Amino acid sequence: MKTKIIVTGGCGYIGSHTVIELIENHFDVVIIDDLSNSTEKTLQRIQKITGVLPTFVNLDLKDENATHTIFETHKDALGVIHFAAHKAVGESVQKPLRYYKNNLYSLLNTLEAQSEHGITNFIFSSSATVYGTPDVLPITEKNETQRPFSPYGNTKKIAEEILDDYSKSNKEFSAISLRYFNPIGAHESGEIGELPNGIPNNLMPYITQTAAGIREKLLVFGNDYPTKDGTPIRDYIHVVDLAKAHVFALNRLLHKEQEKSLEFFNLGTGVGYSVLDVINSFEEVTNSKLNYEITGRREGDVAQLYAATDLAKEKLGWTAKKELNEMIISSWTWEQKYRNETN
Ligand code: UFG
Repeated sequence: MKTKIIVTGGCGYIGSHTVIELIENHFDVVIIDDLSNSTEKTLQRIQKITGVLPTFVNLDLKDENATHTIFETHKDALGVIHFAAHKAVGESVQKPLRYYKNNLYSLLNTLEAQSEHGITNFIFSSSATVYGTPDVLPITEKNETQRPFSPYGNTKKIAEEILDDYSKSNKEFSAISLRYFNPIGAHESGEIGELPNGIPNNLMPYITQTAAGIREKLLVFGNDYPTKDGTPIRDYIHVVDLAKAHVFALNRLLHKEQEKSLEFFNLGTGVGYSVLDVINSFEEVTNSKLNYEITGRREGDVAQLYAATDLAKEKLGWTAKKELNEMIISSWTWEQKYRNETN
């Protein structure tokens, strides 16, 4: 019998890549998604890649009663991977209540429903944003968390605090919070990838949409940071590497290897690239010229953020394998394939 896992937000960018890794590792996946920032077509695309159509439930996790009913139906699941959340930093500054309500209600309802039905393992989709503006780099999991700049980021920090309190109160409950750095790239098949709603906030989709002619030009937000070329440095990680880390984390929970009821892991490569590094690499691998212009800083951006990766390596047995060029090529392949299919 396959082990059943519930994946909330499984039609989204990181969720869908993780569902593929779970299926390829012989898990039985139930996706819960309200399709607010994703499409049901992803299910067929997952089937095309893996040969398996995952079970799908269209559900808004803010609906407490419906969430309980679905967890009752799937109470034979052994774990939950919780991706479902709103994630646009800028929008969260404009609409903080929408973000606190969505991201925290859905978390609380999921935790209550799973606990009521005896599902004790939980993986949370967190973010490096919980480190705020760090003084020491690379950032280890021992770094104090700080209040993030955005309401979106703060929902991640508050969620980790909720998990901390809850894991102390319920000895049966085991959780791992995965702090993502900057996921980019797409599945090598070109079938699934990042599909931002409207104008992208993040660098890589903005680059690929500019190259595809959907955006006129990329604005580079500031070149006066204290970095080698003045543009901010980030730890870009291939989404497939990131997805695989969830399977390692899940196995740690299922095999009861965790040392504390709530553990935190950074998911990054440990290597930092500047915005101009990414642009230059894009131009090089695609042999094209990108239309970009340097402009002023974006509020809330920190100069440098990259991960210490030792803990994930030691405890999960996982490291990121894919290089920046592979991330860029797969992002670009996905953008072109998707645009060709939809035009
Ligand atoms: N950037 C540009 N132009 C753009 C978009 C981004 O110059 O059009 C720059 C940003 O200023 C930043 C870098 O590219 O220096 C990366 O920006 P992203 O928006 O791609 O990523 P962030 O590091 O700002 O944000 C990511 C995640 C968030 C998370 C945050 C944690 O997207 O979910 O990391 O630090 F909160």
